[in-house]
Amino acid sequence: MQLSPLSFFLFLLFSATTLTSTNGHNITHILAGHPDFSTFNHYLTLTHLAAEINSRTTITVCAVDNAAMNTLLSKHPSIATVKNVLSLHVLLDYFGAKKLHQIRDGSALAATMFQATGSAPGSSGFVNITDVKGGKVAFGPQDNDGTLDVYFVKPLQELPYNLSVIQISKVLPSEVAAAPTPEPSAMNITDIMSAHGCKVFADTLLANPEASKTYQENIEGGLTVFCPLDDPFKTFLPKFKNLTAAGKVSFLEFFGVPIYQSLSMLKSNNGVMNTLATDGANKFDFEVQNDGEEVTLKTRSVTAKITGTLIDEQPVAIYTLDKVLLPKELFKAAPRPAPAPAPAPEVAADAPKPGKHSKKQPVADAPSDSPADAPADDGVVADQTDDDNAGVRMGCGKLVAAGLSLCLGLLLL
Ligand SMILES: *[C@@H]1O[C@H](CO)[C@@H](O)[C@H](O)[C@H]1NC(C)=O
Ligand SMILES: *[C@@H]1O[C@H](CO)[C@@H](O)[C@H](O)[C@H]1NC(C)=O
Ligand SMILES: *[C@@H]1O[C@H](CO)[C@@H](O)[C@H](O)[C@H]1NC(C)=O
Ligand SMILES: *[C@@H]1O[C@H](CO)[C@@H](O)[C@H](O)[C@H]1NC(C)=O
Ligand SMILES: *[C@@H]1O[C@H](CO)[C@@H](O)[C@H](O)[C@H]1NC(C)=O
Repeated sequence: MQLSPLSFFLFLLFSATTLTSTNGHNITHILAGHPDFSTFNHYLTLTHLAAEINSRTTITVCAVDNAAMNTLLSKHPSIATVKNVLSLHVLLDYFGAKKLHQIRDGSALAATMFQATGSAPGSSGFVNITDVKGGKVAFGPQDNDGTLDVYFVKPLQELPYNLSVIQISKVLPSEVAAAPTPEPSAMNITDIMSAHGCKVFADTLLANPEASKTYQENIEGGLTVFCPLDDPFKTFLPKFKNLTAAGKVSFLEFFGVPIYQSLSMLKSNNGVMNTLATDGANKFDFEVQNDGEEVTLKTRSVTAKITGTLIDEQPVAIYTLDKVLLPKELFKAAPRPAPAPAPAPEVAADAPKPGKHSKKQPVADAPSDSPADAPADDGVVADQTDDDNAGVRMGCGKLVAAGLSLCLGLLLL
């Protein structure tokens, strides 16, 4: 059989899409084969738990059917609440049908993704699984007064020992997980930063009404903040004070991204990311680069590492950085060493559009009025990829608008 170029291209597209799931499983795809679970499946995607599930192994997803999901949704929970409830349905251990019916001593306690996110106080992130009379298997959240009234119904898919997908009779009743989360607009992001090691950055942001307003305006539609920890930011303050007024605003806005990004999304996307400061020719972007469990953000002169999560409540996520990231528009890099071989082109992260906010006048084209020659805090300067790959990445970035898989397919070609 002869493959036409088009079908060959489509084949590449298809392989590229399936390749992106690192452990070979795709929960969205698995549940798509079970129409009774379409609501559960839809919300796994909306809450970004699907990506989290695909990035892990040795887990069990306790799915509920559309009727059970409707009971949960009839209370009109926020998306952050739905995320908490559903993350309680992802057990961090493998329970196939066989194992469920042969639990040692008839009872086990399973940690869940809810517990792993840190939003679950005490034992509320654990699920009790007990073999009860008549060969039934009962489930209950540990914080539910010992009531076990949710039952195993049937296995949906088993990929031993990576992923087991089972049906349980209804949504696990947890008051803690189902508690309303604050409206995003009521969230005070500077308070959250101040309380968790980013007080200097938060105070600097509060002292700058224009940048503060930009952050505030983007909360509702999705906002990810990367705040430098106090020690590095304190050291950096003299250089900040040297920036022009417009430079200060852009610099502060550079640490926010106008879309929600969970840590698993950051881990599965390498590429250029626009920021709240991105405005036409003033790119103010940085590159996300993953190395195993580590996520780093890079500009020409600095590579900063994400060291912690202060909050991850869709649509807002705030992470801490171990260094102050320096935008190349404001800080000139030291002379570059001899070019190293360019690394393989990376797939661009879904590059967000510039934040919607009233724009100040453009910042002067790099550095005459800025502390340009200040070396990066860590003295590290070599960043080949920034320029060497720019062509490829930009080309890809444009294509992202047309479809990420198209771009993937082209890269494979
Ligand atoms: C998972 O499967 C769904 C539906 O089949 C597909 O749309 C999606 O792109 C897949 N995701 C990954 C990461 O392969
Ligand atoms: C699970 O709950 C049952 C009933 O409340 C209880 O008897 C059992 O000890 C619990 N199992 C574990 C492992 O905590
Ligand atoms: C389980 O995951 C590993 C990678 O972590 C993969 O090599 C293996 O094929 C997966 N097994 C199944 C049954 O999906
Ligand atoms: C957040 O709290 C600080 C004081 O802790 C206050 O100055 C600031 O105005 C608050 N921000 C919002 C948006 O309410
Ligand atoms: C601030 O700018 C002045 C004048 O350009 C310069 O002498 C000084 O070294 C700069 N300070 C820092 C901390 O960059």
